[in-house]
Amino acid sequence: MTQLLGLIGYPLSHSFSKKYFTAKFVQEKIQGWQYELFPIENIEQLPALLKKHPNLVGLNVTAPYKQKVLKYLDEIHPSITQIEAVNCIQIQNGKLKGFNTDVIGFQVSMHSFLTKSMNVVDIPNLKALILGTGGAAKAVAYSLEQLNIPFQQVSRNAGLRYADLDENMILNHKLIVNTTPVGTFPNIENAPHLPYESLTNQHFLYDLVYNPIETMFMKKGKAQGASVENGLAMLHLQAEAAWDIWQM
Ligand SMILES: NC(=O)c1ccc[n+]([C@@H]2O[C@H](COP(=O)([O-])OP(=O)(O)OC[C@H]3O[C@@H](n4cnc5c(N)ncnc54)[C@H](OP(=O)(O)O)[C@@H]3O)[C@@H](O)[C@H]2O)c1
Repeated sequence: MTQLLGLIGYPLSHSFSKKYFTAKFVQEKIQGWQYELFPIENIEQLPALLKKHPNLVGLNVTAPYKQKVLKYLDEIHPSITQIEAVNCIQIQNGKLKGFNTDVIGFQVSMHSFLTKSMNVVDIPNLKALILGTGGAAKAVAYSLEQLNIPFQQVSRNAGLRYADLDENMILNHKLIVNTTPVGTFPNIENAPHLPYESLTNQHFLYDLVYNPIETMFMKKGKAQGASVENGLAMLHLQAEAAWDIWQM
């Protein structure tokens, strides 16, 4: 029987995963696997979905279910206790185990940036701002903790706000990670509200958004001489990490 993989979330109109895995199966001549989209309107539909597809062996989870899915899991990777967000589920003998491969994707791509930037960025004193407080922000926060990079989270409605980001804050935080969807196609003229004029060539702007390839956040950073990165490498790394988990 074909081993079925899929993505749950709602809506799923701009999903990357199905295209990625379908192309991977063709290119790498992987037979007996299929990847489908499951746009469920409510997470309570998950048990019925599992019943309907007994050959499901793995799921990706996207917004708005990365946290809501937790109560349906039989087991979690130890890191999930802290992250409290799951984007990958392994299904074995009817049991669901939750993982977060966004962490692997972000950590590996950030590590390669840090390695190649050692001469430019003062890494031992690097401090970060995380823009947004959603599911992806939780994975980024956990990853930065693992990398020993102190950070503050910026939100529209709690704790540190965008209006609090003055020149001093920007100069004190050389790494800025956008985990909000702001700037995603088709709203490509939008960028998070920052005093971009305070950025320097010592700054690094990491955007989890990958469509467009160069977001307005990145363009504005580049104009000030900052180093920039989009979310594409992270996207591919998290997908491959999920593939490894489903084959365990
Ligand atoms: N590259 C990758 O591999 C990768 C992986 C995961 C996610 N992503 C991308 O990361 C983004 C966020 O994903 P997510 O799952 O974390 O979404 P989410 O759970 O909906 O959270 C997004 C957060 O961004 C903030 N936000 C939302 N709309 C905003 C707006 N109009 N202006 C300012 N802030 C806003 C909110 O924080 P506050 O309410 O606190 O302001 C919200 O909690 C998406 O674009 C997604 O595609 C990329």
